[in-house]
Amino acid sequence: MIYQGNAITVARGTKNGGDDIAMLTFDLKGESINKLSSAVVAELDEAVRAIREESGLQGLVIGSAKDVFIVGADITEFHGLFEKGEEYLVEMNLKVHDIFNAIEDLPFPTVAAINGLALGGGCEVTLTTDFRVMGEQAKIGLPETKLGILPGWGGCVRLPRLIGADNAVEWIAGGTENRADAALKVGAVDAVVPNEQLEAAALDILARANAGELDYQARRAEKSGPLKLNAIEQMMAFETAKGYVAGKAGPHYPAPIEAIKVIQKGAGEERARAQSIEAKAFAKLALTDVCYNLVGLFLNDQVVKKKAGKYEKQAKAVKQTAVLGAGIMGGGIAYQSASKGTPILMKDINEEAIELGLKESRKLFSKQVERGKLTTEQMAEKLTHIRPTLSYGDFGHVDLVVEAVVENPKVKDAVLSEVEGQVAEDTILTSNTSTISITRLAQNLKRPENFCGMHFFNPVHRMPLVEVIRGEKTGDAAVAATVAYARAMGKTPIVVNDCPGFLVNRVLFPYFGGFSLLVEQGADFQRIDKVMEKFGWPMGPAYLLDVVGMDTAVHANEVMAEGFPDRMARDDKTAIQVMYENERLGQKNDKGFYAYEEDKKGKPKKVSDEQAYALVKQVAKEEKEFSDEDIVARMMVPLCLETVRCLEDGIVETPAEADMALIYGIGFPPFRGGALRYIDAMGVAEFVKLAEGLAEELGPLYAPTAKLRQMADSGERFYSTQAQG
Ligand SMILES: NC(=O)c1ccc[n+]([C@@H]2O[C@H](COP(=O)([O-])OP(=O)(O)OC[C@H]3O[C@@H](n4cnc5c(N)ncnc54)[C@H](O)[C@@H]3O)[C@@H](O)[C@H]2O)c1
Repeated sequence: MIYQGNAITVARGTKNGGDDIAMLTFDLKGESINKLSSAVVAELDEAVRAIREESGLQGLVIGSAKDVFIVGADITEFHGLFEKGEEYLVEMNLKVHDIFNAIEDLPFPTVAAINGLALGGGCEVTLTTDFRVMGEQAKIGLPETKLGILPGWGGCVRLPRLIGADNAVEWIAGGTENRADAALKVGAVDAVVPNEQLEAAALDILARANAGELDYQARRAEKSGPLKLNAIEQMMAFETAKGYVAGKAGPHYPAPIEAIKVIQKGAGEERARAQSIEAKAFAKLALTDVCYNLVGLFLNDQVVKKKAGKYEKQAKAVKQTAVLGAGIMGGGIAYQSASKGTPILMKDINEEAIELGLKESRKLFSKQVERGKLTTEQMAEKLTHIRPTLSYGDFGHVDLVVEAVVENPKVKDAVLSEVEGQVAEDTILTSNTSTISITRLAQNLKRPENFCGMHFFNPVHRMPLVEVIRGEKTGDAAVAATVAYARAMGKTPIVVNDCPGFLVNRVLFPYFGGFSLLVEQGADFQRIDKVMEKFGWPMGPAYLLDVVGMDTAVHANEVMAEGFPDRMARDDKTAIQVMYENERLGQKNDKGFYAYEEDKKGKPKKVSDEQAYALVKQVAKEEKEFSDEDIVARMMVPLCLETVRCLEDGIVETPAEADMALIYGIGFPPFRGGALRYIDAMGVAEFVKLAEGLAEELGPLYAPTAKLRQMADSGERFYSTQAQG
């Protein structure tokens, strides 16, 4: 044994005999994956030193004993490390460069055997060796830019030298995970073999390198010298890419462009200079708010997944489901279930509705075929997973039912009691209602413990969130099975408690309330849209209302006003009501705050409409001037405050879940991390001051809670670590 650590072992020899090859194996104790925490990097340093001191070695194989190779650096350490500042981070990366360079400079050929995921720092480890062999199912990539940073352990230096600047820009700026065949095609790896043959293939490469058949020194020279590009190639690889990538990433995500700049700046340099350029740029990005929030997002996502995982473990098997109602939502739910492999019955009372539901599913599957994601045979097979029916015939064998009939409490009451009589004792019933209390719907049921809310968002196949709503009598088994089913459908379930609007709509409607008040004080709604889109929302509030539908919004608003009259009830008419009364329902009838025309692809395209302006004038009582900052504050404060209230009221359990629900459910700008991270970033005290100022003018919708004031006084935050810049 050359080295034995907690995560790394280095042994001489191989199973196949011969003891002149060092086998370095990553196998982090007590974990199902390998990751490069600070402790593991320190071990790697020791392991490489031990290898250097060992005599008589002819080669090194770096491999993994887990299903993955190495999934990357340990992201849970990032906030803590990044807090230490720019100088520290530059130093840290230069130290890692020393370790990685020491592998690259070993006096014998080296090879990485990539058996599974090799991402980020894991990918960068494989770039230090002379050769790479990859398992057929493995994936490799540098996703750092998705976290607001760039590959900082040599990825920006070695990858372009290995696969060309154009390919490296694509991998790094896109943050893609690349399959083995794609990696082989661009030359990122030298061979792809079934996993059982990885070690043999690695040893074969070393033997050929030692025999002089493969020139490993030439490989090293190529990886550590300047990148050879002429002026035209430079232009193509960098300038053209920058324009394209900037357009795609948008102004709020600087990392992909910075990564391209780092590759470009380092292109003419030797290894050490290029690595120091990379280290400096990494440290700068690591200190931005965007990076802080994107790392936070990753961590929050882990929290949400872990919680769902716990429920899943307790859940009974959900093998066959049913949906009641084949409308917009029912059709979408059936498609999603079938597409992910859970057979589903789709029941409606109306034959035409069933036809429409099936047609929509067929359309969505056909798109998958067009994109090459499904074959026609697979599509036909998946379509058989949706079984349309007008009767309850087969409901005795259903594990879980999603009710998605019209939003009418009487109809829902009737349908739910009816279906309860048709299913087994332990079948879970759920409702996709947007506005009716789950506790109230449970009142007519014989087994309320088997009932909960399962709130999908429109369009079902695209929106990642499912709110799982616990009513007063809902039992754990119902929640567990519903969470498990949502996961099986490829969705992110978040469990919340029952209240008007549940979590997401309860938070969204105060935001619309802020919008109504702004319009009444004379703000131009198109300008509000532009400002909020610039802030990072995928669409502004007026446009969003057109998509949601004015009828739906008015109805939901009534429910919210009834539930929270102190801050959400209004005596006078809002712009939303005026639109509704004038039959401007939004996209569904081609006119709302905007008018809609069909674009070339047949999709609705919004255009400005004088009539909408004339109507809005009816409610505008003032002609106030607002700065962009005023608009953002008046829109965001009510949304953030309602999120705080949901947390205080126990509607949602943790800040992480609240923030993720907003990002996944209503497209809250991800780089801002969510409503509670937004308050933290501003500073709780600063936020409270802003809200109090607005509350004086605009009333209780803007009034901070007593607990938030206390947090401001005591310097408390929602998340423990501090953003930097
Ligand atoms: N549309 C959205 O954006 C959205 C989003 C989230 C939740 N929801 C909720 O989802 C539910 C369905 O909404 P939708 O937009 O799909 O409505 P929809 O009008 O498109 O579809 C409702 C379907 O239910 C059928 N139906 C009526 N009574 C029935 C019965 N007794 N048995 C079986 N089927 C019956 C109708 O024939 C119709 O096909 C509502 O509760 C709504 O609040 C809607």
